[in-house]
Amino acid sequence: MRLAVVKETAAHETRVAATPETVRKLIALGLSVSVEAGAGSASAIPDSAYAEAGAEIAANAAAALAGADIVFAVRLPAAHGAIPRGALLVCIAGADAATAATLADAGIDVIAMERLPRITRAQSMDVLSSQANLAGYRAVIEAAGAFERGFPMMMTAAGTVPPARVFVIGAGVAGLQAIATARRLGAIVSATDVRAAAREEIKSLGATFVGVDDAESASAQTEGGYAREMSEAYRQKQAELVAATIAKTDIVITTALVLGRKAPRLVSAAHVASMKPGSVIADIASDAGGNCELTVPGQMRVTANGVTVLGFVNWAGRMPVAASHLYARNLLTFLTTFWNKEAGAPALPEADPIIAGAMLTRAGQIVHPDLRPAPQAAA
Ligand code: NAI
Repeated sequence: MRLAVVKETAAHETRVAATPETVRKLIALGLSVSVEAGAGSASAIPDSAYAEAGAEIAANAAAALAGADIVFAVRLPAAHGAIPRGALLVCIAGADAATAATLADAGIDVIAMERLPRITRAQSMDVLSSQANLAGYRAVIEAAGAFERGFPMMMTAAGTVPPARVFVIGAGVAGLQAIATARRLGAIVSATDVRAAAREEIKSLGATFVGVDDAESASAQTEGGYAREMSEAYRQKQAELVAATIAKTDIVITTALVLGRKAPRLVSAAHVASMKPGSVIADIASDAGGNCELTVPGQMRVTANGVTVLGFVNWAGRMPVAASHLYARNLLTFLTTFWNKEAGAPALPEADPIIAGAMLTRAGQIVHPDLRPAPQAAA
């Protein structure tokens, strides 16, 4: 069996789906591995390191993909037309129904890693978690870099510098890492989330919980562990609390996401106008449109009142060495979990909740319920 790793072509994409470490392990499974030349260059992995690990270096995507049975990528490869029929593609597919139909027609079996269920067994393959953790850390570091004061309280002979006040909106994987990082740097941290379970996690990291405490907040989490979309009244109440907190905050880190939807708008232009000049907003949700009204996805801007809004996309990709290392491990774990040693090939049982959750297409058909065309209404 042959496994191909392609060079990513999307803008801002610095990551790669395999590292020399995972290539060695893939070869130990019995695979031959081809890596497109330059695939690791943005993650500081030279072709020679892949070659030393036993991979064959292919001159371009078409050469890497020729004869591939399995393809590892970060995003859906632009060159997916060159993937052989019957191959298994493992990536963050982000595919809509139309793209899924194209992939099914091309006979490519797709595993969309972003759709893995949030179950314990899937944790070590969970690309959203591994990348969100890095994004949360990086957002605090970048915000600290853009903030022209310090994070910790500094008592000097010349006087005292007060600690920075950091407010984290959304306390999932990214938000909790942001809280921990900001605390380690010495800031006074508060945080909010719609999920009741997040309350204790926020407090256990030494931050103050800011939030609405009502019946709706107790049911704000789906069984899958994601946030639900909340009612207008709830959002209004939360917005008022958030407004009061933001006005007193130096750094706002926003991480709020609702699976499959645009990011909720939680920081308005008026909130930003209430902040002191020199304050910073780091919007980790910018890939999904942003939690802040003034976020320009992919850019850093300074507002009229002197607030810096960091709207970078692919925050985890801003530390590509760590991001690729963890992402490549996630994919390796997925494949080894579903590897049939006797057959020397993957075995993907339809009934397994991980496969049922993540598999988009199989043998020319769309198999994921979210992407299957709606059945024709009876005449
Ligand atoms: P996410 O990236 O989908 O969302 C980030 C955070 O934003 C979430 O905590 C969400 O509740 C919050 N949020 C959404 N709308 C909001 C609003 N209007 N205001 C404030 N906050 C809002 O979530 P993430 O980080 O992927 O994790 C969500 C949950 O899933 C967590 O409880 C996490 O521990 C759990 N989880 C479980 C895993 C497993 O068991 N395999 C793996 C990863 C996460």
